[in-house]
Amino acid sequence: MRVLGINALYHDPAVALVIDGQVVSACEEERFSRRKHGKRPVPFSAWELPVLSARWCLQDAGLEPDDLDVVTYSFDPALHLPADQLGLHDPWDHLRLTYAQEAGNFLADALPGFDPQQLRHVPHHLAHAASAGLAAPFDGNCAALVLDGRGERHSHLAGLYRDGRFERLAAQELPHSLGLLYEDATAHLGFLRSSDEYKVMALASYGTPRFAGELRELVHATGDGGFRTAGVDWNALAKPRHPDADWTEDHADLAASLQLVVEETLLDLARWLHDATGARQLALAGGVALNCVANTRLFAESGFEQVWVQPAAGDAGTALGGALTAAMDAGDRFAAMTTAALGRGFSADEIESALRTARVPYERPADVAEAVAAELANDGIVAWFQGRSEYGPRALGHRSLLAHPGRAENLTRLNDVKGREQFRPVAPMVLAQRAPQIFSRGPQPSPFMLFVHDVAPEWRERIPAVVHVDGTARIQTVDEQTEPLVARMLAGFEERTGLPVVVNTSLNTAGRPMVDDIRDALECFGATPVDLLAIGPFVLRRTPLAGQQR
Ligand SMILES: [Fe+2]
Repeated sequence: MRVLGINALYHDPAVALVIDGQVVSACEEERFSRRKHGKRPVPFSAWELPVLSARWCLQDAGLEPDDLDVVTYSFDPALHLPADQLGLHDPWDHLRLTYAQEAGNFLADALPGFDPQQLRHVPHHLAHAASAGLAAPFDGNCAALVLDGRGERHSHLAGLYRDGRFERLAAQELPHSLGLLYEDATAHLGFLRSSDEYKVMALASYGTPRFAGELRELVHATGDGGFRTAGVDWNALAKPRHPDADWTEDHADLAASLQLVVEETLLDLARWLHDATGARQLALAGGVALNCVANTRLFAESGFEQVWVQPAAGDAGTALGGALTAAMDAGDRFAAMTTAALGRGFSADEIESALRTARVPYERPADVAEAVAAELANDGIVAWFQGRSEYGPRALGHRSLLAHPGRAENLTRLNDVKGREQFRPVAPMVLAQRAPQIFSRGPQPSPFMLFVHDVAPEWRERIPAVVHVDGTARIQTVDEQTEPLVARMLAGFEERTGLPVVVNTSLNTAGRPMVDDIRDALECFGATPVDLLAIGPFVLRRTPLAGQQR
């Protein structure tokens, strides 16, 4: 069974190719089109499909469009309700319905040979649930909890996967939506809605939740698996921030209050699901599941022994979930998802050919991991481009910017390289076997950077660049079996410095998608003060200008 999953309607258009139960590839359109998030999530762009990534998936697998058995589309027009009936003010929302209904014809136009009859609409939240519940590395049944901005008429779905079949237990109808609530706050705080929610999470660490009491009256779980969020007057709590203005204590306090109340609501929902299912394992998806602080509270306090979050937890992940749903329905069996490295990769020959075309000087060291470890130990900043690119928003050692964690000023330096706000933290990657000595509270291993951990007090001074203002860090644990090259680089860095930790942030500059192909890597290296680009087995070094020091 050959299934291409597509997410297109709202944001983060993406594709996933599943053949006979194996996830062959999964990637986001933004990495190909170079438009952050693929498109703005407005009704007028709902027709756009992830055509570039779909073509690449097919080409990479040696398939033609008519080789596909099914294409899934993670929105079901049959479930749609008009926006005014949902309590949403969205006068153009009907376009989404039309475009979802016509998606098969649009796709046939983009992929000649594709038969529109092969398109299958999968309910949006079922696709989210499958992206976690069917991909999680769990034995036996698992509960699945989905929270996002919106789907056809809901913003939430809770249920149980039993032998690969989903049993629905609760779903919250719009307009109540934790995702839309967070988006509203993001816009009120002067950031880009549906894009910059992680900045609100970062800002929350700088505030105290003094508006939590007022927020709780409107935002809370209802005890029956659902919740309420409607009617918040943000202006009554803090003045809106202009995007160019500095943030104030009020803004940080509003972010902290929102974050706390969202965490409490999520905890109530997860505890209800735990009681309702008796399951020991919880799989999480939906854009809200990218909230690492909330995820850690769910892990620590909800009653579930294990919590797993799909690395592309936002709408991009529904491409995978839709495809897995169709594969499961066809009787295919699949293995758990162990890596997010499902995007484009390049051979050494392809990379060398591109470097020659660009006429840039390069070297081929005996071991690129050792060369990078030495550069990092010497306090260089390294662009690290290795293997296949990541599915989802996190850089996980394939398209990363790396630096020495022992120097506090490297946080400022990296935020300057990337051109982003100074309140944004950077995260550590750490050898899996060394992590328990340094990090606690969040689950380990944590290979997808979706939880926060407390940094042991004796380590905070040793790795100040990666310790957030509240003493936490969003770690990526690196297993030498699944990520041997990254593990070797980390081991080489520890040999030189005594620190099994390296700063890891995404390889991009502000407002741009992560670097994906060789040309993107060279452009990024050429435009930013990165000291070394490690691309495949090759390294490119920054040559200081006359009279200039690093
Ligand atoms: Fe969604």
